[in-house]
Amino acid sequence: MCGIVGYIGKRDVAPLLLEGLQRLEYRGYDSAGIVITGKAAAGRPGTLKMVKAKGRVRELESRVPKRFAGTTGIAHTRWATHGAPSDENAHPHMDAENKVAVVHNGIIDNASELRTRLTADGVVFLSETDTEVLTHLIARAQADTLEEKVREALRHVEGTYGVAVLHADFNDRIVVARNGSPVVLGIGEKEMFVASDVAALVAHTRQVVTLDDGEMATLKADDFRTYTTEGSTTTATPTTVEWEAESYDMGGHDTYMHKEISEQADAVDRVLRGRIDDRFSTVHLGGLNLDAREARGVRRIKILGCGTSYHAGQIGAQLIEELARIPADAEPASEFRYRNPVVDPDTLYVAVSQSGETYDVLAAVQELKRKGARVLGVVNVVGSAIAREADGGTYVHAGPEVCVVSTKCFTNTVVAFALLALHLGRIRDLSVADGKRIIDGLRRLPEQISEILANEDEIKRLAAEYADAKSMMFIGRVRGYPVAREASLKLKEVSYIHAEAYPASELKHGPLALIEPAMPTVAIVPDDDLLEKNRAAMEEIKARSGRILAVAHQVQEKADHTIVVPKNENELDPILMGIPLQLFAYHTALAMGRDIDKPRNLAKSVTVE
Ligand code: F6R
Repeated sequence: MCGIVGYIGKRDVAPLLLEGLQRLEYRGYDSAGIVITGKAAAGRPGTLKMVKAKGRVRELESRVPKRFAGTTGIAHTRWATHGAPSDENAHPHMDAENKVAVVHNGIIDNASELRTRLTADGVVFLSETDTEVLTHLIARAQADTLEEKVREALRHVEGTYGVAVLHADFNDRIVVARNGSPVVLGIGEKEMFVASDVAALVAHTRQVVTLDDGEMATLKADDFRTYTTEGSTTTATPTTVEWEAESYDMGGHDTYMHKEISEQADAVDRVLRGRIDDRFSTVHLGGLNLDAREARGVRRIKILGCGTSYHAGQIGAQLIEELARIPADAEPASEFRYRNPVVDPDTLYVAVSQSGETYDVLAAVQELKRKGARVLGVVNVVGSAIAREADGGTYVHAGPEVCVVSTKCFTNTVVAFALLALHLGRIRDLSVADGKRIIDGLRRLPEQISEILANEDEIKRLAAEYADAKSMMFIGRVRGYPVAREASLKLKEVSYIHAEAYPASELKHGPLALIEPAMPTVAIVPDDDLLEKNRAAMEEIKARSGRILAVAHQVQEKADHTIVVPKNENELDPILMGIPLQLFAYHTALAMGRDIDKPRNLAKSVTVE
């Protein structure tokens, strides 16, 4: 989704902003732009200089003139919502006098109404964007200070925003505001940064302040202050970002997807670290804010997430039911929030999100909180909106995930759910012996992940074998079904091969009609109590001349090929069985020449509806 980066200090701003934009490229975008305050004598108005370009940041860079000096500026990568990708629609947007420049993430819902009103007042619009409306509102505001002008303009706006504003008459500051779209301040030594994502800041400072919804900030070179959109001062204490700038580099891999798949053994090690309590065969999750008595009172658990995080939540729900015997299910947050859900006081809600900023998940959490529910977050990005909105929760410690397609974060999220399930189970009816069995299984995971990854050449060979498929079926039963769903999502989003996921038990109720040699099936076949049932499903497919690639704990005779994965405890098998299929999707996409880290039409963090 759109990205914002801004700087005020003593350094030459354009290269800094362009580098920041490059760090945000992973989020997905279609155009980019930059505006800086030109040199001006102190106390005299500066001039704003702007360059914009449809396409990649390097296109923008090539358009930036040699003389583009300044020490204050804001920049943007745009993901089209109102108006097609074009130079005109790219941000920043300026008013007719070139005094005000605005970059904006989010969507202004009443933009067309405001546009009509402004047009009637004689404003000429240069773009089709909702953001330009905000620019003109700020330019026309009567207030004396930039802060008040922005506040006055925002009062007319309905919708979501993360905005940064420059004004030629107030060239010693950048004013920013947040409502539903992330804004993070980076605090430096006599310099300040702002961005929509810490990825753009960590190369320069790890001291950050994350704005809350309804909060604004004024950044000057040696100072910042935060306040509400109503004007009352807020206290903002900088926190330190854990992730190093190097974690955002490719580290010798050709793509972030490959790098992130390869990091999973270490990532899982990290989510387990310091949490296992061998004495009581349980785990400690410090931030849950749920004591044992409260945990015993939970009658049901509802997990909410989107896309891959929703799939991780499905596995999480099964783990909770199996280990803690609490009825649990997962639902797409995007659906949940629109169906006026019954919010039950004895239900514990769990919001799951890699970015912690996905709008549908955040909106579901806010609706739940409004209705008095208790919500936990299972989130990767520390200090993100969902993490802060939740009553408690756990971080999944996957490290930064840059590829649009989620891999290591999925695995770590499922492990985090295993920890939550074990914790709840040991408070309730899970025996010490079973607790120990699960802990031993969790400890085996990093080594088993390395074993799976060591089989990459074979998986690559199999990917080449199936890359001619126009469409693929993914099947699994109970524990295997969410694995099949996630694997099918991975393949389709990165290779663009159509893929369907079905419970193996449902095959004969319809999808079997699709089976023929040109429609291969990937079958998830764990060595558990459903092994024979899964074999029967494969038999049905073979009888219709379907090709089968099995992911199993032993070679499957009915399958044309088997990827053998190491066996863990039955409950934990789903954590491992998806990993070879991440590599399968990766190598299929690679063989097809796809833009692996930035699949078409997708963005990393979906901060709009
Ligand atoms: C798929 C993928 C998406 C995200 C979804 C939710 O590979 O990454 O489906 O999982 O957009 O994002 P988060 O987890 O950030 O809430």
